[in-house]
Amino acid sequence: MHTYHTPLDLVRSRHVESPVVCARPDRVAQASHWFQENFPGEVLYAVKANPSPWILDVLYANGTRFFDVASIPEIQLVRERCPEARMAFLHPVKSRESIRRAYYEFGVRIFALDCEAEMAKIVEETNHADDLILIVRLAVSNDGAMFSLAGKFGVPAYEASDLIRKARAHAWELGVSFHVGSQCMQPSAYRSAMMEASRLIAQAGVTVDIVDVGGGFPSIYPGMTPPPMDDYISSIEDAFEEMMVLENADLWCEPGRALVAEAESVLTRVELVKGDALYLNDGAYGRLFDAAHAKWPFPVRLHRRKADGPAGETGGETASFRLYGPTCDSMDAIPGPFDLPADIAEGDIIEIGMLGAYGTALATNFNGFGAIEYVTVEDMPWPSMFEVQPDKADDSEATVISFARARRRRPKLRRRA
Ligand SMILES: Cc1ncc(COP(=O)(O)O)c(C=O)c1O
Repeated sequence: MHTYHTPLDLVRSRHVESPVVCARPDRVAQASHWFQENFPGEVLYAVKANPSPWILDVLYANGTRFFDVASIPEIQLVRERCPEARMAFLHPVKSRESIRRAYYEFGVRIFALDCEAEMAKIVEETNHADDLILIVRLAVSNDGAMFSLAGKFGVPAYEASDLIRKARAHAWELGVSFHVGSQCMQPSAYRSAMMEASRLIAQAGVTVDIVDVGGGFPSIYPGMTPPPMDDYISSIEDAFEEMMVLENADLWCEPGRALVAEAESVLTRVELVKGDALYLNDGAYGRLFDAAHAKWPFPVRLHRRKADGPAGETGGETASFRLYGPTCDSMDAIPGPFDLPADIAEGDIIEIGMLGAYGTALATNFNGFGAIEYVTVEDMPWPSMFEVQPDKADDSEATVISFARARRRRPKLRRRA
């Protein structure tokens, strides 16, 4: 990947025809270090958030050794890029073929389930293996999250104890997991889910070796500034102390968004201006699925190709615009409104930020618009969940990403009633 200091340097130095993903490896490295240093347990990267090889390479190079995978292609990808990594097949519904291949061909031992029928598939397809690590996914409240994942997976409370008890009989190690919903804005949501899990485990009357608190850790988007990440860790740590699980039980988490959201933005070109509508060369069928369908508020900024344009990157009079992607579909529309320079014109480049999570991962080739280029950039235009707070940093640290500021890894929590 070619490296530019900033996206503006790219825009001013060369012709840009297809959309360009600006990769920011420093952001992934920083997030990975932060979680490794601060989460008091194992950190699994949820590959579905962004399966780009460059993301896996940076995570692996920065210490991530455990991956949450949802399919055989994700397993193959992780095996190829991260040969020493451990994998957990945490998708609650898997084909029989994929269970078999995961177990026999790729050595996966960790499988999630949320009902008896899925448990039977895992047990049968692994030929009643005695080394299975089964993770029972519980349904929990997603009220604290901006993006609910409560509609599809998770065993409801009234069936959970029974399933936990039955899974224990087939498991070498048994875990419980949940997902509090993506972009969780309330650290207390983890505590509530963990207390609920503890109650269900006690009701089941069996021992549990693993508590997996899932994903849901947030990033900063316009109008969505979550509490500091430390608050999430404290909430989880305190709740884990109170849970009815084995004294040496392990704590896991599966962040997707928080590890990669800051890692990518896309440079998209204005192909036509029609009143307040800007027709772009990327959209809902590209990297902007969430912008269009979930109305997710991504940050935008303008980069002018010509340095003599008014006010350079941004500035001057602004106006509200809506965006359209390049395909034929009326759903390829992002209402916004987005405030951009009022004189925005064909050929201008809009950078849409914070697309590292569920941007690249959801892109398609619909209407033939799949071409994409990747470059590396070194700037950091949007706020970070992992950045040194300016008031806490001295001058020398303020401009440097400082891994040293992260807290030391805490000892694994062991005390259980
Ligand atoms: C099983 C599982 N784990 C982890 C994640 C990652 O969630 P997030 O991106 O909110 O951290 C997801 C997201 O859908 C998931 O389904």
